[in-house]
Amino acid sequence: MKIIEVNHLSYKYNEKDVAINDVSFSIDEGKYVAIIGHNGSGKSTFAKLLMGLLEPNENSIKEFGIDLNRKTVHELRSRMGIVFQNPDNQFVGATVRDDLAFGLENRCIKREDMDSIINEYAEKVNMVEFLDKEPENLSGGQKQRVAIAGVLSMNPEIVIFDEATAMLDPRGKKEIRETILKMKKDNPGMTILSITHDIEEAYQADEVIAFNDGKIVFQGKPEDVLKDEKKLQEIGLDIPFVVSLRNKLEAKGINVRGSSLEEVVKEL
Ligand SMILES: Nc1ncnc2c1ncn2[C@@H]1O[C@H](COP(=O)(O)OP(=O)(O)OP(=O)(O)O)[C@@H](O)[C@H]1O
Ligand SMILES: [Mg+2]
Repeated sequence: MKIIEVNHLSYKYNEKDVAINDVSFSIDEGKYVAIIGHNGSGKSTFAKLLMGLLEPNENSIKEFGIDLNRKTVHELRSRMGIVFQNPDNQFVGATVRDDLAFGLENRCIKREDMDSIINEYAEKVNMVEFLDKEPENLSGGQKQRVAIAGVLSMNPEIVIFDEATAMLDPRGKKEIRETILKMKKDNPGMTILSITHDIEEAYQADEVIAFNDGKIVFQGKPEDVLKDEKKLQEIGLDIPFVVSLRNKLEAKGINVRGSSLEEVVKEL
């Protein structure tokens, strides 16, 4: 089933700035899609349009087969979750436990059921031992894992990450990459859209969509999209060393497809 269908979507913040320019495409249920593109190419605008935080042009977005409009926006949004870039802006509770409880209260979960549900979600992101810690004492990666647990505890069918790893160090980035993969394994039907500059992450997705100046310039398998270094350069993306290395190895017939940077280095 097509879980997201976008049809001639356009969005302008004002007369001059066309942020999204006549975009059409679709995403199948259960896919993990990485969205890449240079700064200002329209990725966050696109995420906000999908969440109904900005108003799309008429009949341009369908989610779960339902047209997104003023009447349906609340219902559709309740079936989706979003994790943003800044780990410090995602906390409402004084401890990790309180933070997760807050979300569950909004879902009207009974007090006596809360502890076991909080444990369950903390376990999913490997944060059980941190439940009574204060957010300021966590690393960026740990904070983002709590944010992910909070989103997951709402049982979303679509989860959007808007550069959730951008402010993290390499270790934090790796933690979140692994958390996303686990999330996908635990919930095969969940659709994941991840806006990312982390090419290592783009490699682990099922599909990559590349934005350039408010348009989609390609959609395909990560290895096909990331192989085309000239194209990536044309749309203003830096080619990370690891991608060049991977491409060069593959050109020599050494297959490193689907391996992480660490695995490639180990192989060498
Ligand atoms: N609130 C706003 N008002 C006016 N223009 C905006 C606003 N937010 C974004 N824009 C413009 O819309 C375009 C797309 O911005 P957007 O934030 O969607 O890009 P992005 O791909 O998410 O970039 P980044 O990688 O830097 O996060 C840019 O030209 C930007 O300057
Ligand atoms: Mg952005």
